Amino acid sequence: MSSMPEKRVFSSRLLSCLIAISMFFLILSCSLIFRIGDRSLVPRSIYKLIVVDSGSIEPKSHPSIPLNSCKEACSESMAVKPVASCDPNQALLKVFMYDLPPDFHFGLLGWRGAPNQIWPNVGNFSEIPKYPGGLNLQHSTEYWLTLDLLSSVTPNVPRSCTAVLVHNSSRADIFFVPFFSSLSYNRHSKVQGMEKNSTSDILQERLVEYLKGRDEWKRFGGKDHLIMAHHPNSMLMARWKLGSAMLVLADFGRYSDEIANIEKDVVAPYKHVVRTIDANKSPPFEERPTLVYFQGAIYRKDGGTIRQELYYLMKDEKDVHFTFGSATVGGIRKASTGMAASKFCLNIAGDTPSSNRLFDAIVSHCVPVIISDEIELPYEDVLDYSKFSIFVLASDACKEGYLLNLLRGIEREKWTEMWEKLKEVAPHFEYQYPSRPGDAVDMIWQAVSRKVSPLHLKAHRKNRYHMSQEFLKAH
Ligand SMILES: *[C@@H]1O[C@H](CO)[C@@H](O)[C@H](O)[C@H]1NC(C)=O
Ligand SMILES: *[C@@H]1O[C@H](CO)[C@@H](O)[C@H](O)[C@H]1NC(C)=O
Ligand SMILES: *[C@@H]1O[C@H](CO)[C@@H](O)[C@H](O)[C@H]1NC(C)=O
Repeated sequence: MSSMPEKRVFSSRLLSCLIAISMFFLILSCSLIFRIGDRSLVPRSIYKLIVVDSGSIEPKSHPSIPLNSCKEACSESMAVKPVASCDPNQALLKVFMYDLPPDFHFGLLGWRGAPNQIWPNVGNFSEIPKYPGGLNLQHSTEYWLTLDLLSSVTPNVPRSCTAVLVHNSSRADIFFVPFFSSLSYNRHSKVQGMEKNSTSDILQERLVEYLKGRDEWKRFGGKDHLIMAHHPNSMLMARWKLGSAMLVLADFGRYSDEIANIEKDVVAPYKHVVRTIDANKSPPFEERPTLVYFQGAIYRKDGGTIRQELYYLMKDEKDVHFTFGSATVGGIRKASTGMAASKFCLNIAGDTPSSNRLFDAIVSHCVPVIISDEIELPYEDVLDYSKFSIFVLASDACKEGYLLNLLRGIEREKWTEMWEKLKEVAPHFEYQYPSRPGDAVDMIWQAVSRKVSPLHLKAHRKNRYHMSQEFLKAH
């Protein structure tokens, strides 16, 4: 008799246990579906309630990638913790951007928005106007910086929050002038038909007039304004009038000292034209049969004569690739292969001290040999180029046997040290959208922020006795 209730108790215990277990699995599978499945099926407010631990929303661009496969496949793109949009108070640099008409920026790329629309919608990748390819891309820093600022106030674009757009100019650290001056020079500096002035000149004149009329410009005489002039011939008309601003440049080769100098300006990398080598697949010492690689135009003026001299010194060596040729599409492809198969890549001054060749070498993990005494290098205050490049004075390079002896004397171990460092720094020279921590866009913003503090220091010191002087004047 006594066994009956025991049995009933046992079976009801079993039943509730089964129910509990199945409830557990039901909840587990629900939460897995919500986590892995396409979020667009779940209203965001509900999704946020369910997934309490993540507190952030993954970008729209990969809506339904299962979490595990993502860890490997897209760990890079997910490394940036995506956010709804950046909090200006957390940003290193608060940027005010002038709403210049599209003629000055995306309009130059043929973009036409709706009436009164000044900026493209950067939240939808397929609506972003493309920058022209080929050699134009070298100077495209203007495009990447502008896109990055726009994305700082666009939800669901994952990026680092180094620079953030602010709409209230009194909160800004720096005033950004979104003029695509390099593209304007490359595409519109020829005078058309009956016109007297080129589009590029007219835009520059309009820009000068616009900025000089702004209170923001007058406040510090433009010193806290950021103007992009990466192509050495861009802003040719306006640089004299706007030279007090902080300029984003390739080098100082075609500028006078007072207009461009290392004190106030920021050197930005060229966008490389060869393809980036994957750090895990980079050919090591033994798999780079060519000792020295150089391909470029020949120059007979300015500093460029050194290319010719080096050519005659090196042309007969069998492990040296030294040819003159322009960068056609076929040429770029050949350079990609050539640099990846070389231990050292020459970067010789041409008609300007810098060129995209240095950055092509870096992303090919080919140790750059820099023969350009006047060169300026991006973010050199935080990056020691001597750890991954070799600098040779032009006067030394032209001595018979000097360069080849030097390079042949660098053994596998030393070379590999530099190669490892190259693989580490190469991402700092990558322009991309959306930007990522430590890439070229991010590094440029950091460089700008390092220039901003001394600027403000100077301005504040100037203000020290301002109040007492005003007070005395008033009484
Ligand atoms: C993005 O833009 C493309 C092209 O304009 C359009 O077809 C598409 O519907 C847009 N997507 C979203 C999510 O708005
Ligand atoms: C802009 O910011 C300043 C200083 O933070 C503040 O005093 C002012 O009210 C703001 N203006 C607007 C329109 O929000
Ligand atoms: C056009 O060019 C002339 C001569 O170079 C110059 O004086 C004038 O200011 C220019 N006008 C504009 C609108 O750029």
